[in-house]
Amino acid sequence: MHIPVLLNEVIEHLNPKPGGKFIDATIDGGGHALAILERVVPEGKLLGIEWDSRLLGDMSARISKTEFKENIILINESYVNLKQVAEQNNFIGVDGVLFDLGLSSWHLEVAGRGFSFQKDEPLDMRFGINDHGQQPTAEDIISGASYDGLVKILKEYGEERFAKSIAAGIVNTRREKPIRTTLELVEVIKNSVPFWYRRGRLHFATKTFQAIRIAVNSELENVRQGLAQAVEILGAGGRIAVISFHSLEDRIVKNFFREEAQTGNLRIVTKKPVLSKPEEIMENHRARSAKLRVAEKK
Ligand SMILES: C[S@@+](CC[C@H](N)C(=O)[O-])C[C@H]1O[C@@H](n2cnc3c(N)ncnc32)[C@H](O)[C@@H]1O
Repeated sequence: MHIPVLLNEVIEHLNPKPGGKFIDATIDGGGHALAILERVVPEGKLLGIEWDSRLLGDMSARISKTEFKENIILINESYVNLKQVAEQNNFIGVDGVLFDLGLSSWHLEVAGRGFSFQKDEPLDMRFGINDHGQQPTAEDIISGASYDGLVKILKEYGEERFAKSIAAGIVNTRREKPIRTTLELVEVIKNSVPFWYRRGRLHFATKTFQAIRIAVNSELENVRQGLAQAVEILGAGGRIAVISFHSLEDRIVKNFFREEAQTGNLRIVTKKPVLSKPEEIMENHRARSAKLRVAEKK
């Protein structure tokens, strides 16, 4: 089960009240969503969006057994279509929109789609498994991208200092045999980086896996589009809260809020990102890199 990150801080800043209307754009197991629902019932409503149909199916089954089933609408979509989904479900002029970016612990531990470099699984890494072939898999990228394309992905989405040698390792290996599984990719990375890097505090495959996952799901582009649409569907005084897990995402959120504040659309609520307290980090390792930023629609 995915443990919600910065839960108290999100609730404090979104400040849901009875009768409120909120959108959770990345609902997953509903950790944040249920805490919002508790505060908006009996009249309030929450629209939950989740790109992964399996996660949404589980969430749907669970919520149908609770007292919140009349207060929630669940939609299997990417938040790049946030505005359309909101309009179709009468969620315009809402009190708050939450984005808790990235992947669920479920993806690493259960999905079997190659998100984790510690398990031997096929290289898939898609969230939108129902998007019928529209999205490339990780294997498509590893087997099909050019050397230059791979270097760009590893540098831009992973900030991987050994992008060139890892890309060369991938290109040389795939000439001999296809790279189809996570552990095959880990082996290629291991043989492409210096010995000291293999023994670093951060696992040597971390950045490559992050970069490929971001490329597969167009994650950074999605964040830009989702944020822009969220501003459009917020009511005056409504808040947008975003939890990010790495500097690439956080930079996008920070710059977006700044630009919207300059044009007068938003007021930045969190001058500095809100971080998890040491107690939370002790209980949930994922919380160590979480950053929450909040802004309010003018
Ligand atoms: C960090 S988890 C959210 C956890 C949730 N707040 C909770 O406490 O249970 C992020 C979720 O966003 C989903 N996701 C990623 N990209 C998405 C997108 N473009 N649209 C909708 N959901 C997305 C992932 O499938 C994942 O389940």
